[in-house]
Amino acid sequence: MIEIRLPRTTDAAGCAELAATVTGEERAGPFIKSHLERHHLIVAEANKEIVGFLAYRTDWFQCTFVSLVVVREDFRRKGIAREFYKSVEAVSPSPRVFSSTEETNAASIRMHTALGFQPSGHVDNLPQGVRELLFYKRIPPRSFG
Ligand SMILES: CC(C)(COP(=O)(O)OP(=O)(O)OC[C@H]1O[C@@H](n2cnc3c(N)ncnc32)[C@H](O)[C@@H]1OP(=O)(O)O)[C@@H](O)C(=O)NCCC(=O)NCCS
Repeated sequence: MIEIRLPRTTDAAGCAELAATVTGEERAGPFIKSHLERHHLIVAEANKEIVGFLAYRTDWFQCTFVSLVVVREDFRRKGIAREFYKSVEAVSPSPRVFSSTEETNAASIRMHTALGFQPSGHVDNLPQGVRELLFYKRIPPRSFG
């Protein structure tokens, strides 16, 4: 069973290990710590292990911005990222959700399209050496009661 839930402090190491595969060891720990402290992290657990997380921020041009999403290789294509984005959309204080990926990341670009994101520009001149593509999705207004 895969559980999508809010993180506990004890999940930090498992998240950092996954984050390191994308950000490198050095940035992973502080990255997870800061998102955990701000409660801007959602995790996936299976067999008592962290198999994915989504980290986001809400201070990006007054919009929600997904900072990083990683799913462990053996748990991909099971809908975990789809559930993560659904969760962010449900808690986003802004109706505008942005997300991004490197222009060389075909899987992530496909995922964004599949999840209903539209292209919204790009960032050049980053140290990563390739373009970062931005994606945007407008969340329909929530109905209360
Ligand atoms: C990108 C990533 C987060 C997707 O996570 P995931 O849990 O496998 O994604 P989902 O199973 O929720 O996929 C949702 C939809 O996105 C699309 N998609 C996801 N991965 C895809 C791939 N490798 N190729 C084509 N389409 C893909 C599909 O349409 C999929 O729906 P389907 O499986 O019903 O066809 C995962 O591949 C990953 O962790 N990659 C490494 C880190 C990374 O690149 N992060 C994104 C940049 S920050």
